[in-house]
Amino acid sequence: MSDLAHFQQRRHCLFEKIGKGIAVIPTAPEVARNADTHYDYRHDSHFYYLCGFPEPEAVMVLIAGDRMQAILFCREKNAEREIWDGFRYGPDAAALHFGFDAAFPISQLDEKLVEMMADQPTLYYPMGADSEWDARLLKMREAVKAKSRSGIQAPSHLRDVRELLNEMRLIKDRAELDIMRQAASISCEAHRRAMRFTRPGQFEYEVEAELLHEFCRHGARHPAYTSIVAGGANACTLHYVGNDAAMHDGELLLIDAGCELDGYAADITRTFPINGKFTPAQKDVYQIVLDAQMAAIAAARPGKLWDAPHLAALRVLAQGFIDLKLCQGSVESVLETESYKQFYMHRTGHWLGMDVHDVGEYKLDGKWRPLQCGMTLTVEPGCYIRPADNVPQALWNIGVRIEDDVLITPHGNEVLTREAPKTVDQIEEEMRHE
Ligand code: GLY
Ligand code: MN
Ligand code: MN
Repeated sequence: MSDLAHFQQRRHCLFEKIGKGIAVIPTAPEVARNADTHYDYRHDSHFYYLCGFPEPEAVMVLIAGDRMQAILFCREKNAEREIWDGFRYGPDAAALHFGFDAAFPISQLDEKLVEMMADQPTLYYPMGADSEWDARLLKMREAVKAKSRSGIQAPSHLRDVRELLNEMRLIKDRAELDIMRQAASISCEAHRRAMRFTRPGQFEYEVEAELLHEFCRHGARHPAYTSIVAGGANACTLHYVGNDAAMHDGELLLIDAGCELDGYAADITRTFPINGKFTPAQKDVYQIVLDAQMAAIAAARPGKLWDAPHLAALRVLAQGFIDLKLCQGSVESVLETESYKQFYMHRTGHWLGMDVHDVGEYKLDGKWRPLQCGMTLTVEPGCYIRPADNVPQALWNIGVRIEDDVLITPHGNEVLTREAPKTVDQIEEEMRHE
């Protein structure tokens, strides 16, 4: 199946959910950084999911009914601008290349949309995502209403198209999984590279550079999120992105980094000793987190509730924290009182896909939803031990997280990020190689 067929199939699925109505889905705007430079352009995920069109200043219109139409509005060809900024498709080539029924210059959007909205019962768009779009579309609807004396009706219902798209995106199709496997594989290579490279005395940003190099040389030009490269105590800051400290002999390095490939994210965390050999205390903590992660992965199966991996991880962590004298009492009481939260304060994962924290509800009707084949999620327990009076000093400033990307399959799951070394032996072995 060609890439185009996958996009057409997704649009078809959305058409069926809409039944009769019109959907308007803009891509993301370019954002100025300063003067003549922009932040790296990133398309809107919903838009890209449905068509793969990479340029800014584009809007997709889907008209569902007896006849289904997919229409693109995009920038026109412009010889002068293309000398400065490079190729742009223009409507004709874009329609052909991306399989649209029609395409028009973006400058005609408002005028044509007023015509297209006529007699459509429902207008679907990303409601509330951008107040300018809200105002613009409502103004167009008013323009349709103004024609009511000629018998034309404006959409009387407004719906958020993301409610439909979020659920579609939650179950990955084959084309998406192909890309996600590649993104995972490149990111695993980057973590291996970081393990082989790291030495005491280097700075965290030197390791970050190795990660970015490995992403980029495989065509993944950007990380899916800002990489966390956290040596020693920095690992206990959950969203540490300074990445500018020296790395010391005898400390651990926590790396949370994944690339974005063709719009899809990988999200991997590995923690390893900066000098290549775990100390006994580090190994104790590490093994508990690893056991918790393996228990959580085993609980990520079709039919299990979203919360099952988290609960599985918590049980193992609670017992481990008791063994390490971080928590007191029984597993049940540690879970009940949530005393584990001093050392494990986040949840065990999230949906993964085009967005690193991907779309899709976690609960349905107030209850955790069951896992289904085709869902992709992270499994990422951790343990972060800040200095405190109730903590054995030998454990101070140890921060460990282990994060893999998991696809739910008919018989259990597939760990997409399995190529990144994870056991104590695997890590120490990897680090013996330059
Ligand atoms: N890297 C973001 C996360 O692990 O959720
Ligand atoms: Mn994550
Ligand atoms: Mn992560």
